[in-house]
Amino acid sequence: MSPSTADRTSLGLLATVFSVFLTALQTRTADALQIQQAFATPSRTNNFVVDAVSRRVYLAAVNSLYQLNATLSREAETRTGPVLDNPLCHAPQLPQAMCEHQKTLTDNHNKLLALDREQGVLLACGSVYQGFCELRSMDNVSRVAVKFPQDGTTVFPSMLNIAANHEDASTVGLIFRSHGGAPRLLVAATFTGMGSEYFPKNHSKEDLRFENTPEIAIRSLNTKDLFTYNINPSEDNVFKIKQEVKQKNKLSFVHAFVHKNYSYIAINNDANTGLKESQPNSILARICLDTDDPRRSAESRKLTESYIQMGLQCGSDGNIYNRLLSICPADISAHSAAGPEPYLFGVFARTGGQSAVCAFRVADVEERIRQGRRNCSNGPNSDVQVLDSVIQGSGAQCELKGAIKLQEEQLNCGAAHLQHPLALMRPLRAPPIYEAPGLSSIAVDNVHNRTVVFLGTSRGRLRKLSLLANLSVANQWSLRLPANEPVHHIMTFDPSDHNYLYLMTTHHFLRVQVSVCGLYNSCSECLSAGDAHCGWCTLEKR
Ligand SMILES: *[C@@H]1O[C@H](CO)[C@@H](O)[C@H](O)[C@H]1NC(C)=O
Ligand SMILES: *[C@@H]1O[C@H](CO)[C@@H](O)[C@H](O)[C@H]1NC(C)=O
Ligand SMILES: *[C@@H]1O[C@H](CO)[C@@H](O)[C@H](O)[C@H]1NC(C)=O
Ligand SMILES: *[C@@H]1O[C@H](CO)[C@@H](O)[C@H](O)[C@H]1NC(C)=O
Ligand SMILES: *[C@@H]1O[C@H](CO)[C@@H](O)[C@H](O)[C@H]1NC(C)=O
Ligand SMILES: *[C@@H]1O[C@H](CO)[C@@H](O)[C@H](O)[C@H]1NC(C)=O
Ligand SMILES: *[C@@H]1O[C@H](CO)[C@@H](O)[C@H](O)[C@H]1NC(C)=O
Repeated sequence: MSPSTADRTSLGLLATVFSVFLTALQTRTADALQIQQAFATPSRTNNFVVDAVSRRVYLAAVNSLYQLNATLSREAETRTGPVLDNPLCHAPQLPQAMCEHQKTLTDNHNKLLALDREQGVLLACGSVYQGFCELRSMDNVSRVAVKFPQDGTTVFPSMLNIAANHEDASTVGLIFRSHGGAPRLLVAATFTGMGSEYFPKNHSKEDLRFENTPEIAIRSLNTKDLFTYNINPSEDNVFKIKQEVKQKNKLSFVHAFVHKNYSYIAINNDANTGLKESQPNSILARICLDTDDPRRSAESRKLTESYIQMGLQCGSDGNIYNRLLSICPADISAHSAAGPEPYLFGVFARTGGQSAVCAFRVADVEERIRQGRRNCSNGPNSDVQVLDSVIQGSGAQCELKGAIKLQEEQLNCGAAHLQHPLALMRPLRAPPIYEAPGLSSIAVDNVHNRTVVFLGTSRGRLRKLSLLANLSVANQWSLRLPANEPVHHIMTFDPSDHNYLYLMTTHHFLRVQVSVCGLYNSCSECLSAGDAHCGWCTLEKR
């Protein structure tokens, strides 16, 4: 035996022993996953959205927007940068915006991309011009659909400063229909003004973001009052961390999504990072959307009235993964539940690159929120507190409401007499169901009552896990992606066909087929592969 063969054999052995040791599971390669189409971008990718109806994909990269068809052929493309800009200058859309600072050619990093089908527009917000947003045509992204600002209207900086104005500062958002069908944008962006790591030093007087950029806001998407948050009920559509506690609340937003009639925002508080490695820094906030609810016909709902947050903790003492990287809701059949029920799956990491998947039952989130409001109405307590980082003044606290019996709606979403944003003091905990280095993104599906988890990694792999009913891993597969580039934290299934997953790496957008059943030649081969996508021999006679 030549030394090299011996080396290879022992390396192979070592690898086998190692993987058995690590997971005690069988890892199969590639075949259950296959790249169908790829679209390469010269500049770094930032965001994407898929239209369920046309099946078009809108892809945003640094300085470019692409419109692709369902098989990733380019239909239209537009340049969004670089532009002459300076973070100390107002957006040029502000009338008479003068600026003494030198403007330089600046790359435009897309911060937010969202579709509003009803208006046929694509919302695109970039890092330049103070986080300026525009509405483009869904039929052709090269065309601006709504002129903004409109001629003759009054423009305030608050209508222009929307997304984070820095490449590395986070922004998330979603579009919804408010009471009466008015289009609204819920948007959350990291504070980038004075005192933050994003603000140029020694320019405190020029902090344009201080007064005008709340961390979270609900804005209008009506053309007549586009992007203003001065909508009924005014002032209560913003959630703004007080200046004096910004240092303790460095919010980094991971994802905003709608589940049932609630919107959730997943957040990390980076002020805690490094201080207490064992403390979870991840937060799940819930805001009730002011959708059509017959019982609330007169008034619109305030953002701060329904805002409530709790920590999310993946792992337990001594083994906590404290930073959320990616989150996705999925209805799965777990444990002995009668049918599929909603869970939130998250990828969490800690310093050193170790990461894990944890799953939280949405029913537990909902029940804790009701308990929290009930407890708050019983007076000051250690389980739930008024989130005083956003309340002007101090001293607001849970008050004893006497003999009032709170209605279900009030327990869920607050009420005029319980109008403060709240924070539950104890995190919701879950044990890791899978641990591996470098996980970066997650998407979960329920396939014939089997939970299938897809995980992107920072080293350019896509993993597929098939879970048992107790959420332990039954089987796994792995696919190597082009150029070994890290996978972006947002991945989604093709909305019209869950056999395909869309994902983004640094310079590629990929459409991956997640079940390649044809490759199994027999029923027994298929069964032994344990791939939930290949249910040939199950009762449905697939
Ligand atoms: C996308 O466009 C290409 C090139 O025009 C075409 O061959 C392909 O069939 C299109 N795909 C779909 C799904 O329409
Ligand atoms: C999209 O609009 C641009 C600018 O109006 C135009 O040049 C281009 O031909 C359009 N593309 C399509 C596919 O309609
Ligand atoms: C910035 O401010 C600090 C303290 O105010 C001062 O010491 C320093 O020289 C300033 N730097 C510049 C480049 O102006
Ligand atoms: C959501 O709101 C709609 C409209 O008010 C209502 O019909 C529906 O029952 C609500 N769904 C849930 C899950 O509360
Ligand atoms: C509410 O109070 C009860 C009784 O003190 C306590 O058991 C429960 O954990 C509290 N829950 C929350 C979310 O505050
Ligand atoms: C999934 O489980 C539910 C409840 O146990 C059952 O009604 C349903 O038929 C199952 N579906 C499949 C595809 O096995
Ligand atoms: C989950 O179920 C499998 C098979 O029923 C069992 O072998 C495994 O120990 C269980 N895992 C946990 C964490 O309960």
